[in-house]
Amino acid sequence: NGPDLVVVAIDGPSGSGKSSVARAVASRLRYGYLDTGAMYRAATWWCLDQHVDLTDAEGVAAAVRAMPLTIGTDPEAPGVEVGGTDISVPIRTTEISTQVSAVATNLDVRDELRRRQREIIGLVGRERGGIVAEGRDITTVVAPDSDVRILLYASEEARLARRSTELHGNASTANVEATRDQIVRRDRDDSTVSSFMQAAPGVSLIDTSDLSLQGSVEAVLDQIASDLGRI
Ligand code: DC
Repeated sequence: NGPDLVVVAIDGPSGSGKSSVARAVASRLRYGYLDTGAMYRAATWWCLDQHVDLTDAEGVAAAVRAMPLTIGTDPEAPGVEVGGTDISVPIRTTEISTQVSAVATNLDVRDELRRRQREIIGLVGRERGGIVAEGRDITTVVAPDSDVRILLYASEEARLARRSTELHGNASTANVEATRDQIVRRDRDDSTVSSFMQAAPGVSLIDTSDLSLQGSVEAVLDQIASDLGRI
């Protein structure tokens, strides 16, 4: 028998499919779900809403410490609210996607959100028996002692095609090229805080380049079963 509280940590770059995969896996196992990227996006939305200059590191950190964030942990409906306002949709806009790195590279912001993430993982994990937490530094920094640690990899080509389809409805050459800049720049900015393109020691690498969503979900469920020796 494995541990009472199962923590599944999943990291990966944008376009690796990790959010869809992590949510589906949490649903299947009836675990909670935590999208830590949504917390960085919410922090960015909040700073802009509060007219905080994103280049003012101390101002950004102070604003984020005071942010009244409620992050949903139900994989069927993971809503994001700040001060009672539902911001699930606005945090996915290009305006936020292009500015989130400025907030996510602030080390005081990372300290604050890491503290909140650990609290949520403990609380929700105990409530539901387990939790799937996904992001960039879950396997290495937020929850390095997790029972299951997975890095979802996908080739740049595969990630571009997926993101292009998400944004433009197809992966035509023109749309892939339009997406390339955004993805490449964000990967470069994000990798200054944590290295999520290579699996840390003890972290299982799953390459989803040639897998469908369903195939990726099955691969992750297999990894979890093998790591826990059950399910
Ligand atoms: O996964 P995403 O695209 O929603 O993440 C949004 C941003 O937050 C991304 O630029 C990287 C950052 N992030 C991070 O620095 N650490 C995490 N654990 C999760 C996301």
